[in-house]
Amino acid sequence: MFTLLLLLLSLLLSHTSFAQILVGGFKPVDHVDPHVVEIARYAVDTYNKKAHANLKFVTVVNAESQIVQGTNYRLNFTVLNGRVTQTYETLVFEGLKGQRGVRNKVGGFKLVDPRDPHIVEIGRFAVDQYNKQAHKSLVFKSVIQAQVQIVNGRNYKVTIRVADGGTYEALVYEALNGQKTLNKPFKAVVSIPGGYLPADPNDPHIVDTGRYAVDEYNKRTHMDLKFVNVIKAETQVVSGVNYRLVVTARNKNDQVQPYVAVVLERAWESYRNLTSFNPLVQ
Ligand SMILES: *[C@@H]1O[C@H](CO)[C@@H](O)[C@H](O)[C@H]1NC(C)=O
Ligand SMILES: *[C@@H]1O[C@H](CO)[C@@H](O)[C@H](O)[C@H]1NC(C)=O
Repeated sequence: MFTLLLLLLSLLLSHTSFAQILVGGFKPVDHVDPHVVEIARYAVDTYNKKAHANLKFVTVVNAESQIVQGTNYRLNFTVLNGRVTQTYETLVFEGLKGQRGVRNKVGGFKLVDPRDPHIVEIGRFAVDQYNKQAHKSLVFKSVIQAQVQIVNGRNYKVTIRVADGGTYEALVYEALNGQKTLNKPFKAVVSIPGGYLPADPNDPHIVDTGRYAVDEYNKRTHMDLKFVNVIKAETQVVSGVNYRLVVTARNKNDQVQPYVAVVLERAWESYRNLTSFNPLVQ
């Protein structure tokens, strides 16, 4: 995913007249350089704000930079997540005027294409491991939803369909050396009519999608609703993922009301659209 991002970025930039500057690629830089540390702190702060998380920056372990029309910093750094130390990768762009932006999300799970061959391999692995551990004989059919989180290695959260029609969720950790582990739980998911699966309303990506739905509704209708939270979330795999969310929002009269929003996302194409937004009829 990360390499894909870089690839896309370089493809994008190579179409500009600055293509020749790019040839150099990334070069190692001093990981204790105060400016590099500041960039890493910025990435952690940005993530904490966006995901309402509380990661504490510890140290930069590895740093590279690339001169584009500005500078790209590719950093590996450690944070304290509660009492657990975790390593993250990030890509931060710093423009010529000092403006910054995080190019990939630090932490957090990101949706990826469930048909990707590597994701299918992860799905197969999860089913095989589960069969071995629980003495079952489930037959893998497909991955219907996949999310990846960059840690010191990768975490994959996959929703798997098996041959008897059952749906399961699994968390697989893949170490940097490619070794995979099935992390519990491998659990059956009960699907809701219409093929919707329950999802965590507090998941940062779901919260972000809820916020997007309210913002988009405001734009289209010249309303001024203020997003409050997501109280229920379901996802459905179509050509992409449909999010059916119950969000609450505050109106001009200071009343908080629930709405049902449907958002279609194809994260791997950076496509997202609000399909419907209506007051929840109770
Ligand atoms: C971060 O760590 C990964 C895995 O060791 C490595 O492939 C990558 O090059 C590192 N990035 C930097 C900026 O050093
Ligand atoms: C977004 O969804 C609306 C409602 O379904 C549709 O009318 C519109 O064409 C969509 N826009 C894009 C860019 O797909």
